[in-house]
Amino acid sequence: HHRPRVLSGIQPTADSFHLGNYLGAVRNWVALQDSHDAFYCVVDLHAITAGHEPKVLRQRTRVSAAQLLAIGIDPERSTLFVQSQVPEHPQLAWVLNCITGFGEASRMTQFKDKSAKQGAERASVGLFTYPVLQAADILLYQADAVPVGEDQRQHLELTRDLAQRFNTTFGKTFAMPEPYIIKDTAKITDLQDPTAKMSKSASSPNGLIELLEEPARIAKKIRSAVTDTGREIVYDPETKPGVSNLLTIYSALTGRSIDDLVLAYAGKGYGDLKKDLAEVVVEVIRPIQERTRMYLEDPAQLDKLLAIGAEKARAVSSATLRRVYDRIGF
Ligand code: ADP
Ligand code: NA
Repeated sequence: HHRPRVLSGIQPTADSFHLGNYLGAVRNWVALQDSHDAFYCVVDLHAITAGHEPKVLRQRTRVSAAQLLAIGIDPERSTLFVQSQVPEHPQLAWVLNCITGFGEASRMTQFKDKSAKQGAERASVGLFTYPVLQAADILLYQADAVPVGEDQRQHLELTRDLAQRFNTTFGKTFAMPEPYIIKDTAKITDLQDPTAKMSKSASSPNGLIELLEEPARIAKKIRSAVTDTGREIVYDPETKPGVSNLLTIYSALTGRSIDDLVLAYAGKGYGDLKKDLAEVVVEVIRPIQERTRMYLEDPAQLDKLLAIGAEKARAVSSATLRRVYDRIGF
């Protein structure tokens, strides 16, 4: 392939993406399509590692795919698919599980955090090997680059270690994936607790902006966002995390620099900023909502797009798996 290949996935574990997912991840996936041969998957196998409802999962998988399309993932240029429709993912994951050290997997901080929350006895073995499945996702496609946030760095390091180990033990099979750090990626914080990141699992309903929620509700949440003492609109995440977060969102959605915004709001109050920002957010989100609805209204067409995506993905993943099986003596 001529263009470098990129792979990324998102879990269908919420009824809607939130603004942090959009600005921190998915919006960048859209841009990457211009320069990269992109593979994007809805990782439903990952989504069953911490308990789930079948009906809810099925719906969330569809809604996630619909949102990706609505935001601008182009199924003609890129490969968009659902992980469970490509059986090579768990097949390669098993092989990789067998070259992953128990101690090595035990050092994954995300597992430590998540299993601590669930109670160590209750956490599933699937949750434990989650990063190995993630390594399989990446290595199956010989991805050159993986867009990663800080929270995923350790998993990508494990992926690289496993690729290296397999290549050394059984012969060169996998490309070595590099982290792709997207510059200008906005870290969005919780509207009610602006020192914490906006998160589907940790944020309260009023701290979270969901892409698919009622525009009037979004506007209301922004108007009631926690701001800081003082009245001046200045950017300082340390001492004014609330206002700084609003400026970050504003800048990310409009392309205006933070300095420019600070100048524009000199002498104005938090209320003015919030009112304008609410309009900006709703204007961006409304067409995404309309397109998402359009994709969801035609389930047969959505299924067809995803089936084509899975077929495109399998053309690559099955070739990699065949080589792996051959190397290991199957
Ligand atoms: P959550 O943290 O809400 O559980 P995920 O872990 O599913 O969300 O994240 C999916 C993607 O969205 C990841 O690439 C992650 O880095 C990005 N992301 C999540 N929350 C934020 C945020 N508050 N700001 C920027 N990016 C975020
Ligand atoms: Na997360």
